[in-house]
Amino acid sequence: MTSEPDRQPDLSAECLVHDLNNVFQTLLEAAELLSSDPKWEQLSGTLFHTVERGRGIVQSFNSKDRVSIDLAAVVDNAIQFARDFAQTVQGCRLEFVTNVDSGLRIQGQPWAWERVLINLFLNAANAMPNGGVIEVRAWRIPGWIALEVADHGSGIAEEILPEIFRPRFSTHASRGLGLHIVDTIVKDHDGEVTAANRTDRPGARFTIRVPVEGVLVNRATA
Ligand SMILES: Nc1ncnc2c1ncn2[C@@H]1O[C@H](COP(=O)(O)OP(=O)(O)O)[C@@H](O)[C@H]1O
Ligand SMILES: [Mg+2]
Repeated sequence: MTSEPDRQPDLSAECLVHDLNNVFQTLLEAAELLSSDPKWEQLSGTLFHTVERGRGIVQSFNSKDRVSIDLAAVVDNAIQFARDFAQTVQGCRLEFVTNVDSGLRIQGQPWAWERVLINLFLNAANAMPNGGVIEVRAWRIPGWIALEVADHGSGIAEEILPEIFRPRFSTHASRGLGLHIVDTIVKDHDGEVTAANRTDRPGARFTIRVPVEGVLVNRATA
């Protein structure tokens, strides 16, 4: 009989974090160099923010820690990232129209919620390759917070609406993971996300419902 091999903790995630931190360090050095030239000052600021965000995402990997989150601050940070992305990568401008009720707080991981919004914003940017308007609304309903992201793109074909949250579903030459990430994070926070086409004009609308801070949701036990 062969003996059981020693069980090693899975180090793959830790190794990934280790190597990504080297990547971030290199980007920081580059940003530092650029910052000394007024011509590249803005780009250098974008790099600093992006690295900070990358580090936050990496640190929150696998973390189940929950803190009290100011939703308006998360929305602002995600908007800043999406603007940077659209300008640097797509060469276009996104205009954000926000209507976020003050004092909205949810329980969770700030970086996770930024990822939710960033994925929705980048999908909206993809749907408006020449730039356009993204509307963000958040308001309280009893026990819940509703969060809505709507764009001025051409909307989502009705026949693919039931498919879009499926991992690896994409109509672009892309990974098709963005909405899967959104769905996973929202569910992990006891919420739900739905997609629909706008009825007031062409465009897509994503609506999220998540328990307001302090409200416990009874999870079904298996
Ligand atoms: N705002 C949007 N407007 C139009 N179509 C969208 C929008 N958001 C998502 N989609 C559709 O859903 C698909 C899946 O999105 P996602 O999971 O983020 O993958 P990816 O962006 O990599 O294609 C997209 O390929 C696109 O067809
Ligand atoms: Mg996407």
